[in-house]
Amino acid sequence: MDTITSRRTETSHVPATPVTGSMRAVVQSRYGSSDTWQLTYTDRPEIEADEVLVRVHAAGLDRGTWHMMTGRPYLMRLLGFGLRSPRNHVPGRGTAGTVAAVGAKVTRFTVGDAVFGVSRGAFAEYAAAREDKLAPKPSTLTFEQAAAVPISATTALQGLRKGRIEAARTVLIIGASGGVGTYAVQLAKASGAEVTGVCSTAKADLVSSLGADHIVDYAGQDATDGSRRYDLILDIAGNTPLRRLRRALNPTGSLVIVGGEGTGDLTGGFGRSLRAPLVSIFVRPRLTMLVSNEHHADLLQLTELIDAGRLTPTIDQSYTLDRAQDAMRQLETGTVRGKLSITISSPCRREAAEL
Ligand SMILES: NC(=O)c1ccc[n+]([C@@H]2O[C@H](COP(=O)([O-])OP(=O)(O)OC[C@H]3O[C@@H](n4cnc5c(N)ncnc54)[C@H](OP(=O)(O)O)[C@@H]3O)[C@@H](O)[C@H]2O)c1
Repeated sequence: MDTITSRRTETSHVPATPVTGSMRAVVQSRYGSSDTWQLTYTDRPEIEADEVLVRVHAAGLDRGTWHMMTGRPYLMRLLGFGLRSPRNHVPGRGTAGTVAAVGAKVTRFTVGDAVFGVSRGAFAEYAAAREDKLAPKPSTLTFEQAAAVPISATTALQGLRKGRIEAARTVLIIGASGGVGTYAVQLAKASGAEVTGVCSTAKADLVSSLGADHIVDYAGQDATDGSRRYDLILDIAGNTPLRRLRRALNPTGSLVIVGGEGTGDLTGGFGRSLRAPLVSIFVRPRLTMLVSNEHHADLLQLTELIDAGRLTPTIDQSYTLDRAQDAMRQLETGTVRGKLSITISSPCRREAAEL
């Protein structure tokens, strides 16, 4: 690549050359496109007593990272991500790597353990993560695969749980071919439901291969025209109006709004998510929205399914850290099948032990 270069940034604490205690990282000091990302050297993060320092081998890329990069919708800036510039200067959250150091109160991990979970600043050689946001890495996955799990698979799991998947015989997943959707299809199938996935023509084969019983190509068909009703709709993409989603639900069914891109700079798709629970007070079926919260208990549940061969990350492509911008550009094109991951370093126990 490459437009990301190793060089001094405007941020004064970032040195131009590697020094002891420094690391290679993608750094962003203002909101904007991926052009604001610079690969440079910066200080390794300091950890709190309940945190772990992870030597990052791979990071996952997801839509949330795009939102934190651009600062859009603006509502999120008010929610604590940084008013004028990102509060966290290193992007990326989904992480897989090796424990390099532990805080004084950490009990579950020791140096050298292979872990995955959510950190603050995964596009870097080292990242700090709360102990309760990490779990042992699934033994059957590579680090690149494992890094693609924590954000998107947890969202899919929590969305289906909120929609009472255990009682749902028929499930409609809108946005079945993306980061969250590819996990949701597999998880809904693993729970025994009959699954219909909504996606584009180009990704229909992918969604079928994940186990979906029926595919609706949104270019030519409307899955919410009422000709078929579902016990659960997981609405991940497309911003379908609430009234159309309602007519595709059984009276005792549930809608869970997870997301949807491109509905304005101020609130994004959030207006629909806020309206759903309000409307639900007065009407059936049940209309809800999800704000996911990654936690080690869910990572352990996902690991069981992964190591049993019932859940597999769909990795479209892995990029190296110096091509993180290219990865973000691919995400923005909407062509990604499943997930993208970023390879950062090879595992090396000795290196971790020498910290
Ligand atoms: N609530 C939460 O806590 C939470 C957590 C994580 C993510 N999210 C949100 O969830 C959304 C999806 O995230 P993601 O990581 O899965 O994104 P993603 O990987 O970009 O996938 C989105 C998918 O939506 C599909 N799509 C686009 N237009 C569509 C339409 N009209 N109908 C059906 N599918 C359509 C695209 O596939 P095709 O090419 O096949 O159309 C794409 O694969 C984002 O808005 C994200 O911010 C919310």
